[in-house]
Amino acid sequence: MTSKEIINNLDKIDITEPVPANEPERQYYFIKKAKEIYKLKREEAGRDLTCTIKTFGCQMNVRDSEKLAGILETIGYKRSDSEEADFVIYNTCTVRENANRKVYGHLGIMKHEKESNPHMMIALCGCMMQEPQVVQTISEKYKFVDIVFGTHNVYKLAELYCNSFHAKGTVIDIWKDTNLIVEDLPTTRDSSFKSGVNIMFGCNNFCTYCIVPYVRGRERSREPEDIINEIKRLADDGVVEIMLLGQNVNSYGKGLKENITFAQLLKRVTEIDKIKRVRFMTSHPKDLSDELIEVMASSDKVCRHLHLPVQSGSSRILKQMNRSYTREQYLTLVDKIRNRIPDIALTTDIIVGFPGETEEDFNDTMDMVEQVRYDAAFTFIYSKRTGTPAAAMTDTNDKAVINERYQRLIKRVQEISAEKIKGLTGQVLPVLVEGKSEENGSLLTGRLSNNTLVHFVGCESLIGKIIDVKLVESKGFYYMGEAVI
Ligand code: SAH
Ligand code: SF4
Ligand code: F3S
Repeated sequence: MTSKEIINNLDKIDITEPVPANEPERQYYFIKKAKEIYKLKREEAGRDLTCTIKTFGCQMNVRDSEKLAGILETIGYKRSDSEEADFVIYNTCTVRENANRKVYGHLGIMKHEKESNPHMMIALCGCMMQEPQVVQTISEKYKFVDIVFGTHNVYKLAELYCNSFHAKGTVIDIWKDTNLIVEDLPTTRDSSFKSGVNIMFGCNNFCTYCIVPYVRGRERSREPEDIINEIKRLADDGVVEIMLLGQNVNSYGKGLKENITFAQLLKRVTEIDKIKRVRFMTSHPKDLSDELIEVMASSDKVCRHLHLPVQSGSSRILKQMNRSYTREQYLTLVDKIRNRIPDIALTTDIIVGFPGETEEDFNDTMDMVEQVRYDAAFTFIYSKRTGTPAAAMTDTNDKAVINERYQRLIKRVQEISAEKIKGLTGQVLPVLVEGKSEENGSLLTGRLSNNTLVHFVGCESLIGKIIDVKLVESKGFYYMGEAVI
């Protein structure tokens, strides 16, 4: 169902009847009830009430926030960018300690905001809330928070909102894990022409440094028909670019009735007429199949970009990270991909300072960067996450040494990236125009199929369209171009 159809169907729901037990009907019931509560609050305030959602972390959270926004707007809230809104939601990330710290920083400020706005509600959700010690801290030190929920029950926002209306203290609803995937709830997209689409949830890989499997639960795939139908609806609504989302999209399909691989799903998505570009995130190198490389090579709609996190260039560290590939296997895979798809851009994630990383291990990472020559690399300093196997490993690394390595890595990564990007100068290539440039409002900005940014002069009516742009001058990580119309 489209969001519009869902909203139209709400009229038929009678909230004097008992609460439905099944989803999504149960949530439609609570959305209707929440609309009544919103009306009361609105009358009391004498004005429309606003909401804002602050999203931390990855594309998964970005997509979850669009679902939260869909529910809030259906209830009646008007969107705002300000943290002075009447309903503020923090959709949190806990992949590294600093992501976690930021949220407490915001909460400190919000305490005062809330004291000056009697209509204000604050909700916390997302990955950080799946950690019991966090929820304990919130319930002890941040009692002014109205609702706390996790990653498994995002769809329940309307129900929690209704509960909170009748409750005295904080409403807390955290699930350890779930098999449930609730379809057909309203979503509000951030963009009119591109959209993320979840194809799977959770992760079963348990890389030893990573908290995601603990906070996102076990891997589960969505039914292919649900995914395809959602994308068809998006296409009918003007979306031209799709990003298929999962922590490890290459293992898509396990546990479904139908025998289907990620490559087959991707092929089906490319067959949807109005979809012009398809991207996906993230690919684990251990599961990247020849079949996938073939599907990528044989369709122009699959973007010439592959994010292939390597994490480390040292086979010894990779083993301790439980990444299930060696340095040699990764390099062989890169060769195979580049031989079949020569114009592909490869990007990666790298962790510096994993417990016990020696200078030799780090040099292997530097050498990996030299050999692969990534188009871009996201570099992270290892952050100890309580409960993960790596947190129990002996770590004698010196902070200053890690910092120095980190700087060395970033410098080299950026140099190579600038050299790589420059390589397309003079070519005319299709660009999906995404909006006005953030740095210079008189310019438009868009992306090449390989994900490189291009700025150029053009009319705002081009936003959302794919047009040819001549790449005139490379400026490090982006191009200055000229529209060819
Ligand atoms: N599922 C994706 C990545 C999700 S997390 C994948 O497997 O590629 C995004 C990135 O954060 C990871 O690739 C990793 O480089 C980094 N990361 C995860 N845990 C971390 C930690 N404890 N410290 C530092 N970086 C970490
Ligand atoms: Fe974390 Fe590894 Fe899963 Fe990625 S594949 S989310 S790094 S455990
Ligand atoms: Fe962060 Fe959760 Fe994504 S921990 S990186 S928001 S899956």
